[in-house]
Amino acid sequence: MSATYELRGNVAVITLNNPPVNGLGYETRLGITTGLERALADAAVKAVVITGAGKAFSGGADIREFGSPKALAEPNLLSVILALEASTKPVVAAVHSVAMGGGLELALGCHYRVASPGTLVALPEVKIGLIPGAGGTQRLPRVIGVENAINMIVSGEPVKSEMLAMAPGQKLFQKIIEGDLMAGALAYAAEVADVRPLPLVRDLKVSHPSADAYVQFVKNMVAGMSKNFPAPLKCVEAVAGSLRLRFDDGMKLERELFIGLMSTPECKALRHAFMAERATSKIPDVPADTPVREVKKLAVIGAGTMGGGIAMNFLNAGIPVVMLEMKQEALDKGVGIIKKNYEAQVKKGKLKQDKLDARMALLSTTLNYADLKDADMVIEAVFEEMGVKEKVFKTLDEVMKPGAILASNTSTLDVDQIAAFTKRPQDVIGTHFFSPANVMKLLEVIRGKATAKDVLATVMALGKKIKKTTVVSGVCDGFIGNRMIEQYSRQAGFLLEEGCTPAQVDKAMEKFGMAMGPFRMGDLAGNDVGWYIRKRRYLEKPNLRYSKTADLLCELGRFGQKTSAGWYDYVPGKRDAIPSKVVTDMIEKHRAELGITPRKISDDEIVHRLVYALVNEGAKIVEEGIAMRASDIDMVYLTGYGFPLHRGGPMNYADTVGLFNVVAAMKRFAANPLDDAGFWTPAPLLAKLAAEGKSFS
Ligand code: NAI
Repeated sequence: MSATYELRGNVAVITLNNPPVNGLGYETRLGITTGLERALADAAVKAVVITGAGKAFSGGADIREFGSPKALAEPNLLSVILALEASTKPVVAAVHSVAMGGGLELALGCHYRVASPGTLVALPEVKIGLIPGAGGTQRLPRVIGVENAINMIVSGEPVKSEMLAMAPGQKLFQKIIEGDLMAGALAYAAEVADVRPLPLVRDLKVSHPSADAYVQFVKNMVAGMSKNFPAPLKCVEAVAGSLRLRFDDGMKLERELFIGLMSTPECKALRHAFMAERATSKIPDVPADTPVREVKKLAVIGAGTMGGGIAMNFLNAGIPVVMLEMKQEALDKGVGIIKKNYEAQVKKGKLKQDKLDARMALLSTTLNYADLKDADMVIEAVFEEMGVKEKVFKTLDEVMKPGAILASNTSTLDVDQIAAFTKRPQDVIGTHFFSPANVMKLLEVIRGKATAKDVLATVMALGKKIKKTTVVSGVCDGFIGNRMIEQYSRQAGFLLEEGCTPAQVDKAMEKFGMAMGPFRMGDLAGNDVGWYIRKRRYLEKPNLRYSKTADLLCELGRFGQKTSAGWYDYVPGKRDAIPSKVVTDMIEKHRAELGITPRKISDDEIVHRLVYALVNEGAKIVEEGIAMRASDIDMVYLTGYGFPLHRGGPMNYADTVGLFNVVAAMKRFAANPLDDAGFWTPAPLLAKLAAEGKSFS
């Protein structure tokens, strides 16, 4: 059992003991009820204290149990809370560090609650598309009022115990205990041992001076803010229920709303993303206890767009960075941009001036490779040309100390070939940041053929340290994200040839939920980048069909926002995309040359052709072992490509649609003579799963 029982004088102490955060798994729940029964049966026991061992009171449900029968096995959390409420001896929750979700609901079922200052208290269920399901929506408003409860439950954000204890009239914490929590809790238990009747949160009254108006106001506001997600509004409905319903009826309402949400695609998508994020760091042949190399100092080669952003990540984490360039001007420019970025944060009140100074003090620059020799890791972000990378890695091989990690930020080049420029390929790895590198959450870690396990483990840990979603990719052209986006872009090009305008495609994708449609994205990233890559790629694959529209656009010098002209027109200094007559004419002329009569294409067709293009390539990527699992691909798209969170990533979306239906749609697309029939041959994995009625997950 994952809870211990001991007697301290005439107080029984039940301690949750299920590391790391005392998740309320079956064994822990059983430990609580068994301990309680023992305390009630022992005439010498006057009161009970419940607390958590280690670094949490309780973090809530045990996520390792998600989806297993154990999660629902009796005693379930509701039964445990009922047992605590029914106790004939007072139960005091001694709360510290973290009391979240079910952990807080458990404490709310106790007669009294005392807390250490600084305890993070939250009901975060909304973040996985749910409402609290063990009475949180009914008990929390009874102790901190409806408005505070709605704030906490709709946001899911933690609030510190001492802040809550300051709320006027609050009944959440009877005492904030500075110093020894257990001593304080035992003393408090002695104080209340004989008080009868025992107070229950369920018996408290909830009221609001203008309940109806307030609830309507919050509903309007929350509905406006949570567009694609049903849970926030259900949180409001549930808490509002506490104003008009008896406690037990409020609990019924909570249950109904909870169960209703469980089966929504949005909730499934959020839970999928939650689990997928955790899964990314699990590498089957690199166990969690693999030793890591120490990275106390970092070097960055190249102070351009990526080098500067990459450096900022490490400065933010307190790791000193030395940046190397070919010319002093390039260094000055790079450092200037970093400083300007920080200053903008200070202006917005997001960063304090002393933090800016501290971060800039960690940054040094050099033109001389000899100054890199004490760095534990170097990340190269120079021009995307193999010849340039070759020179840089040969030099790094000469100057870097033994054991230093040599990383490349290449977005398309072969990391194994780069590793082979050195005599230490085991120390070479790819770290593919996304632009702007100081903002974007995604980091693709490219595992080369020779990359040592401890190098991979080190870079994964470092990714966590700089707060990235770190996904491992094998070596292939474009790695996970860009390899898939190539197919997406190819389809977007065919759509233009067949009759769409860039704005129509973008609007359809944005309505689906993408942060940006493919053409606005191209204009933001720079259409010349893709042009350059296509020149190389399609030289290697001369028979591969793609629409030349994007090349024609670049031939007109329309590289995107940076040239104030791309797929759209731009007013210098502004980002509004204005449909362009030049582009429309260019597309129409190209169509006429191909002899295509344009047709009307539905938004549905646009969305499905683009998304299934991602899915099919994604299936190949899983099958080839480039991605370790389909959910890793979803994390790449959610965090690096603006794929809508409420759809859970392309692979999860395909699962939701049903792979059989995905394959059927692909067959229809293949019959279109203007599309590339070969494009729509289902990846063997996709075909197999669809035929067997299975899903990627
Ligand atoms: P950039 O052109 O903005 O910066 C490259 C910098 O490297 C320049 O300041 C240049 O002076 C410097 N440099 C070139 N050769 C050098 C050498 N031998 N020694 C020292 N410094 C040298 O390019 P950007 O966009 O920062 O790209 C850098 C790398 O990051 C490329 O491999 C690119 O494919 C990759 N990447 C770029 C992304 C983007 O959105 N720009 C996204 C992800 C990866």
